[in-house]
Amino acid sequence: MANISASSPIGIFDSGIGGLTVANAIHELMPKESLIYFGDTAHLPYGDKSSSAIKSYSKKISEFLLNQNCKIIVIACNSASSTAYDTVRKIVPTSIPVINVIDPVVDYITKTKKRNRIGVIGTKATIKTRVYPKRINQKNKTAKVNSLATPLLAPMIEEGFFDNNISQTIINNYLSKKPLSNIDSLILACTHYPLIEKEVKKYYGSKVFIVNSANIVAKKVRDVLKKKKLLTLAKRAKHHFYISDYTSSFDKSTKIFFKGKIKLEKKNLWKD
Ligand code: DGL
Repeated sequence: MANISASSPIGIFDSGIGGLTVANAIHELMPKESLIYFGDTAHLPYGDKSSSAIKSYSKKISEFLLNQNCKIIVIACNSASSTAYDTVRKIVPTSIPVINVIDPVVDYITKTKKRNRIGVIGTKATIKTRVYPKRINQKNKTAKVNSLATPLLAPMIEEGFFDNNISQTIINNYLSKKPLSNIDSLILACTHYPLIEKEVKKYYGSKVFIVNSANIVAKKVRDVLKKKKLLTLAKRAKHHFYISDYTSSFDKSTKIFFKGKIKLEKKNLWKD
């Protein structure tokens, strides 16, 4: 463990296959980097779990990624980033960066695109922590941040249910709720939501700026690796995509989250 080099893989995890939106953005930006992805499909969804459960799952998965000699760990899940970042940071050697999906977005919205009436949608676990309002207000005191838990969206997307009339109706219903009235930007604070960006944009038209974290996080990962001189020199990437439970529906849904061809491998970290 911790014998890392530039040719070591990038470790990425999520509660399931939603974090593949982040893995996909990382792959598109840095096609030669090898990825080790872990989707904890046995414990999905994290959004409805207690914080102690999310912390314990995240710890176990991070230990696994460290054992795979990953040079950086990306928590590609808002529910785990908001609840378990400190837990993960504590067990990962300081030489290995840990990237969450929240801070790069907070930096982006408070620096690159300074906005003052910000909406946030995410799972119950993420919204409950109030991590977005807290961190945005640390950097921009005058920003008004209103959050709304939208628990139906991740399971709906995971089932491949988007881009149709029914999903649009559910999305419209959430977006028309009071906390989101009068916003100038909306953070999609769940790694599943890039897949409904089109429908969210359809609801708002050009009135509201939509923040999709996948590309922002991918750039952050590239910047950190570059700074640490850990960008790979390899000619070809070699990926592994592990999930803790397997059904053929995951295989099918995987294609909508990650554009390249993926073979899911089952790995149960909780047996014994
Ligand atoms: N992808 C997870 C996130 O970003 C949501 C899915 C879940 O609830 O497990 O929060």
